[in-house]
Amino acid sequence: MKTTGGTDAQKRRAGESAAAAVEDGDVVGLGTGSTAAYAIRAIGRAVDSGLDVRGVPTSFGARALARDHGVPIVELDAVCGPDSPGIDLAIDGADQVVLGDDSNDGTIDGSATDGSATGEAETDGAGNASGALIKGGGAAHAREKVVDAAADRFLVVVDPSKRTDALDADVPVEVLPEARTTAAAAIRDAGGEPALRRAERKDGPVVTDNGNLVLDCSFGRIADPDQLAETLATVPGVLEHGIFVDLADEIHVGTADGVTVRS
Ligand code: 5RP
Repeated sequence: MKTTGGTDAQKRRAGESAAAAVEDGDVVGLGTGSTAAYAIRAIGRAVDSGLDVRGVPTSFGARALARDHGVPIVELDAVCGPDSPGIDLAIDGADQVVLGDDSNDGTIDGSATDGSATGEAETDGAGNASGALIKGGGAAHAREKVVDAAADRFLVVVDPSKRTDALDADVPVEVLPEARTTAAAAIRDAGGEPALRRAERKDGPVVTDNGNLVLDCSFGRIADPDQLAETLATVPGVLEHGIFVDLADEIHVGTADGVTVRS
């Protein structure tokens, strides 16, 4: 159900801009997807240069990428228990993000996005952004929500094709395999049209890292993401849905020549 139309350069700028916020000693939530991957690679380069960080992966894919790029891994339980340091920041992608008029975006130019994981994003805090997200294009939204919500700061990294005035993309819903039919019926009752996500190169459904299935659910334009999030959360057999409300602290949008940052 990918809705992406951005370029690799835009994704790279967004990912590297957020990676620049990582500080020595941080515990970092490592998101899933092609944009978050640029952040993981940038953090890996910073580790090579001596930065001391530990990463909490949100998926098998993020874990493998972090390992490949030399980012030390730590388990969520080890950092989020009593007397533990917690997660300082999480960096993750999105399939859609509600951002209004971009005239008040803070801007940094391409010079801050050279992969050095340094540089400062100017943010303005203004505008009419709600920051509500749809995630789960990579079927990792259950673990992503756990890690992103646990972080002190959640930085979202996207290309401009993900910006929208209102959420209207399909909402990924992870369901227990046994609940596939009953959950689909409840989602239809709630006004959605669910479709089982199928693997692109295999004859069968997508199976998540948690061993579950994904229903991509069309609701049209979602007027009240909060309410839909609550409704989906109450469906028996739903492990997690891809609506993220009130979680994002900063949105880094990679553009043709720099990055805009909305907080
Ligand atoms: C995975 C996600 C991804 O972050 C989302 O699909 C965006 O991916 P990409 O950066 O490749 O467009 O939610 O579950």
